[in-house]
Amino acid sequence: MIKKEYLTYDDIQLIPKFSSIKSRRDISLRTLVSKRYGLYIPLVASPMDTVCEEEMAFKMFRLGGVGCIHRFMPENLQSDMISRLRERIFNSKISIDDWGIMKNDWHSEIKMIPIMAAIGVQDEDKDRAIMLTNAGANVLVIDVAHGHHINVINMIKWCKDNLPDNVDIIAGNIATKEAAIDLENAGVDGLRVGIGGGSLCTTRIKTGFGIPNVTALEEILLVSTVPIMADGGIRTSGDIAKALSLGASTVMLGSLLAGTDEAPGKIIETTNGLIKRYRGSASLETKITHNKEERNIEGESTTIPYKGGVKFVINGLIDGIKSALSYGGANNLPEFNPEYVQVTNSGISESKPHLLK
Ligand code: XMP
Repeated sequence: MIKKEYLTYDDIQLIPKFSSIKSRRDISLRTLVSKRYGLYIPLVASPMDTVCEEEMAFKMFRLGGVGCIHRFMPENLQSDMISRLRERIFNSKISIDDWGIMKNDWHSEIKMIPIMAAIGVQDEDKDRAIMLTNAGANVLVIDVAHGHHINVINMIKWCKDNLPDNVDIIAGNIATKEAAIDLENAGVDGLRVGIGGGSLCTTRIKTGFGIPNVTALEEILLVSTVPIMADGGIRTSGDIAKALSLGASTVMLGSLLAGTDEAPGKIIETTNGLIKRYRGSASLETKITHNKEERNIEGESTTIPYKGGVKFVINGLIDGIKSALSYGGANNLPEFNPEYVQVTNSGISESKPHLLK
């Protein structure tokens, strides 16, 4: 048994640092999503079938982030989406004026723009990977629940040996340093970190496995040399700031982006207002929709209030993250390394608005 105390986002608060930042517009949020691919903002849309298809991926690109097109569809449909996305991306430009993202940038040039799609670890996923990269995908995410697995290691090696040189591979999900070391030794270009912390996950309840996110990130960041994506359980820009302060390069978002116009699925009118569906990739609803065997259910499904355009959500998150960098005295993400304190339950209550009941 390990006696160390394991922490998650609510257990910590960041300690303010001296700041000489004059305007939040001068703060750069440039980052890497994988070894060779860069973003203007550290946000990635999760490859879930109620979060990211072509529209979400395109809008995320326009806003300076990236969306990972999910794999719960035939490979020809997924690669058609990638072809169209690639076409649209190369005829478009990032809406830098909206966010002032380019100002005072610490890179003079954006690294290569990621076009991202998810694959699994079955033999047929090799065909999927070839079709996706032929269609223009240049970052593939090996998207499985338990990433510290021989099938994932073999898939990373196969991708590195068989796909074009410009393709980066991100793999996960993992939560230990042993996993990070093994996947890096296999040649991975980025790691997706977080087991069982997602808003609809039942993994920790069904299996008893999982590691609170803050400590999982800290352990992995001690040993890893590739960009780290913090995934699952992120509810606010404060959670994002905490993940980035620990050294994560990006965060992956599910529930925060679900319910927007760009998320797949219809807007449903109810007496309580407009809603959309949000469902775990391993939920019964997702398995039924995709004609998968109704076994190994490790996720929930729910409705979520309709939120309008994803731009408004991202706008709010970016405001919060830039504000966090200002409290941390950082002009950019590499400079953002405040210490944190562990808080008690009373500290957690004090952290939330508590006058209004
Ligand atoms: P948030 O908290 O942003 O989490 O909604 C999104 C992440 O949750 C993971 N995910 C699942 N985990 N069962 C799980 O245990 C599921 O059915 C499931 N679906 C998604 C995934 O890592 C995603 O990015």
